[in-house]
Amino acid sequence: MRVAASIRAPEVNVLVARIHENIAGFGIMRYGDEDAHLDLLAVAPPYRRAGVGRQLLEWLEKCAVVAGIFSVALEVRAGNEGAQLFYKRMGYRTLVHLPGYYQGIEAALRMGRDLCRRPVDHRICCPGSKSNGVHSMDSEGRS
Ligand SMILES: CC(C)(COP(=O)(O)OP(=O)(O)OC[C@H]1O[C@@H](n2cnc3c(N)ncnc32)[C@H](O)[C@@H]1OP(=O)(O)O)[C@@H](O)C(=O)NCCC(=O)NCCS
Repeated sequence: MRVAASIRAPEVNVLVARIHENIAGFGIMRYGDEDAHLDLLAVAPPYRRAGVGRQLLEWLEKCAVVAGIFSVALEVRAGNEGAQLFYKRMGYRTLVHLPGYYQGIEAALRMGRDLCRRPVDHRICCPGSKSNGVHSMDSEGRS
């Protein structure tokens, strides 16, 4: 339901990564006036640690920069150390600890990145219009 609503929303990009016609991962970023928020990012287990997450996130970040947005935030489960290490590698830092963020039980970390601090990779294609509400890219990062 959340994904379907995101596909319809004009201020949201839903990006799917394809490898040999298989869905390797997807990311959803919401763009505000001054900030962007990464709502979801996931890579299927067989495709992890191959740069798919990095390419998805960089593509979504580049859209923010093109729109004049230089601040991105996200929440990650406090127990998800792998994802936290990924985001740190991607230039994010922890902003605040949010106890009970998930269903009042599990804590989250809010992490953020200032996109001015490092140029985004301009080899990654910039998006065109969303024909069916979903952008896709192949393993070379092409839209
Ligand atoms: C987090 C996630 C999206 C990363 O995607 P990925 O495609 O595996 O990440 P990449 O291959 O682009 O990783 C880029 C770099 O991030 C770091 N990194 C990624 N996953 C890591 C892990 N589990 N542990 C430590 N470092 C990690 C590494 O430095 C990696 O570079 P390297 O492989 O050359 O060492 C993926 O593990 C995932 O889908 N996890 C489950 C869902 C999830 O936790 N989503 C985030 C919720 S907010």
